[in-house]
Amino acid sequence: MKFFIDTANLDQIREANNLGVLDGVTTNPSLMAKEGIKGVENQRAHYQKICEIVDGDVSAEVIATDYEGMIKEGEELAALNPHIVVKVPCIEAGIKAIKYFTEEGIRTNCTLVFSRGQALLAAKAGATYVSPFVGRLDDISSDGIELVRGIVEMYHYYGYETQVLAASIRSTQHIIQCIEAGADVATCPLAAIKGLLKHPLTDSGLATFLADYKKVNGD
Ligand code: G3P
Repeated sequence: MKFFIDTANLDQIREANNLGVLDGVTTNPSLMAKEGIKGVENQRAHYQKICEIVDGDVSAEVIATDYEGMIKEGEELAALNPHIVVKVPCIEAGIKAIKYFTEEGIRTNCTLVFSRGQALLAAKAGATYVSPFVGRLDDISSDGIELVRGIVEMYHYYGYETQVLAASIRSTQHIIQCIEAGADVATCPLAAIKGLLKHPLTDSGLATFLADYKKVNGD
């Protein structure tokens, strides 16, 4: 399973990248706003910086919601760097735009996906990635992981090549559940990725090894 980090924060991206296991980055307009990145030029410069840090796919989302606007913006984003994947919302104009981008060889991430029907349309349009939002479904007492599992099953059954990118991941446990559901990618906050390292038996085992070493070898 590939790991992306879900942030526009350069320090967190560097930290995750330095772990040596990062495969890419996803951003969205809310995450860009959280970093205080204002204006189109600054946003594009920020995407460039992210692409320079990480040798992997970087999702950059279009703001336009009409077909022509999405095409213009997506082509400009894709031209910034070969790492860029154009992120497009799962609305009617978005599905048409994904089809266009697919024909032009521009990679896409169909975002804000909350049902298998939406995921089917994204795959038929040729999306590189589809992003079911796990946490946001859990927030409304639905089951985000079940949706990931259902999309994975559907894509395998019909042979779609679109990769299932589990998004809105909120915890380490979500990542484990994504593995079980067969997600191709999980895009996660840094804390959730680092949570994978934690196990009390690792900590106590290491403490015992070091104490035993010191008993014989001294400090
Ligand atoms: O990748 C989408 C993600 O950023 C949304 O996460 O936590 O705002 O639902 P969240």
